[in-house]
Amino acid sequence: MIRGKMMSQIIDGKAISKKVKSQIAEETAVLKAKGVTPGLAVIIVGDDPASQVYVRNKEKACEEVGFYSEKFALSQNTTQQELNSLIKELNARKEINGILCQLPLPSHLDDKEVINLIDPIKDVDAFHPVNVGAITIGDYNFLPCTPAGVMELIHSTGVDVAGKKAVVMGRSNIVGKPMAMLLLHENVTVEITHSKTRNLAEITSQADILVAAIGKAKFVTADMVKDGAVVIDVGMDRDENGKLCGDVDFESVKDKCSFITPVPGGVGPMTISMLMRNTLTAAKIQNNIV
Ligand code: GUN
Repeated sequence: MIRGKMMSQIIDGKAISKKVKSQIAEETAVLKAKGVTPGLAVIIVGDDPASQVYVRNKEKACEEVGFYSEKFALSQNTTQQELNSLIKELNARKEINGILCQLPLPSHLDDKEVINLIDPIKDVDAFHPVNVGAITIGDYNFLPCTPAGVMELIHSTGVDVAGKKAVVMGRSNIVGKPMAMLLLHENVTVEITHSKTRNLAEITSQADILVAAIGKAKFVTADMVKDGAVVIDVGMDRDENGKLCGDVDFESVKDKCSFITPVPGGVGPMTISMLMRNTLTAAKIQNNIV
């Protein structure tokens, strides 16, 4: 066998996301003809610049697919009580089908309290314990946006994942844990690594599918990746020059794997498309449309 540089294919998250959004736009037009416009409320507390960009992109996507959206930009010193009252108000409003509170919240606010307060049927992030439990047993309305987007990207490669080994780097409630669950649902053998994991490179080097969600710029280097692996980069980090990059050292890893997602233009756009999908689902359920 001649061994040399492998030419990997770059997974175009932006293009795949665009396709998903156009399908959602079509379905939305059908719903609107029935008098139902999906509505999403997005709450942002404080002025974290990254969160502001994410929220703006979510609003833009709502416009693209034809949803109604409402943004609630609350000041940094909002109290828990004020935030809770807003959630309760939105739970009761019929034209709001989805409620999303952008995380992280300022440190004086309790994100668990907020997540628990959102009506599970409007919880388009799928963060509420009821939805997390439903996902775990495989009987759910909503999938968590980032892991669902990653699954779509993996499917786009055409690689048959059943029986393959995946390593998920990171164990957050938003990405790592649900990611492992979705892979497991598709008969992947999954291992989760975290900051206390020993012999990390040894473990990651066994992965046919490697999902990096650790929040450390260019942490995953070529020596940590198996030849021909599918590499998915969930990171949104800044490199030494302040430039947006992922958890994977793209330049070195791209010559070793079979497929890789870029940052930006990989997982990020998919997360937003999946949020649109969840909001559409929420609107259908709440209006008894199957
Ligand atoms: N912060 C980072 N990712 C997410 C997400 O998917 N949803 C919310 N609400 N906040 C986030």
